[in-house]
Amino acid sequence: MKLITLVENTSTGGTLKAEHGLSVLIESENSRVLFDTGQSDCIIHNAKTLNVNLQNIDKIVLSHGHYDHVGGLKYVLQYAKAPIIAHPEIFRKRYSKKGDKLRYIGIEDKSFFEHLGAYFEFSTKPQQVSKNIYTTGFVELKTDFEEVDKDFVFESNGQRIKDDVPDDLSLVLDLKEGLFVVFGCAHRGIINIINHCENTFNKKVIGFIGGTHLGPASKFQKEKTVETLKTMQQLKIIGPSHCTGIAMTCALANEFPDKIIYNNVGTVIDLGD
Ligand SMILES: [Fe+2]
Ligand SMILES: [Fe+2]
Repeated sequence: MKLITLVENTSTGGTLKAEHGLSVLIESENSRVLFDTGQSDCIIHNAKTLNVNLQNIDKIVLSHGHYDHVGGLKYVLQYAKAPIIAHPEIFRKRYSKKGDKLRYIGIEDKSFFEHLGAYFEFSTKPQQVSKNIYTTGFVELKTDFEEVDKDFVFESNGQRIKDDVPDDLSLVLDLKEGLFVVFGCAHRGIINIINHCENTFNKKVIGFIGGTHLGPASKFQKEKTVETLKTMQQLKIIGPSHCTGIAMTCALANEFPDKIIYNNVGTVIDLGD
């Protein structure tokens, strides 16, 4: 299985564009799955630059309903006609609230995308996307050190309610050696997600790439997460991206020098079978 990062906050250079967002294409013998779309038409530019064809995509999976993961979908739909797998709560009217400042961070309505030809398959449960590729489905908050960003709220019946981003899902690649996880933003916490994957699929997680949301997390959460990752003997690849931020990526590189990979726009990872 081959992972090609099409959108990320940084790039490997050349004429590739970077933006705050994430999109990863997973190519296997059996399928081509697009996980997230970044926030703009950046994905189209980068796909062309990397000679990646967006027309014969079999499935699109959306990690959650934040603009930096779904904003590129309206552009992708001009090329790809594929079912879109997501959690039903992706269309929440959601904001980041800092003091009195509200910033819209949600996405367009379902009907907006349907007018562009989108066909959604919603589920809260783990879903098979194609051979050896699954979604995590809904991930419970279980650890005592991971919490969803305190600044997130959503609007419901005129009220603003804390948004725990229940729609946050990750992609699970079932490899011979173990599980490889692609996070969107990991708003539910990377340790919660890793534990959920290991319990659901009854195999160990051997690696991950994607947004960890450790950048904005508390010092306590960062420290406890690193501590827990150190106990995971099977974990061989740590590929923090996107909302991990550069400072936390460097901290992880210091802690795990033999496991770290830098996953930017243009990075291609061959995971074998
Ligand atoms: Fe994000
Ligand atoms: Fe997010």
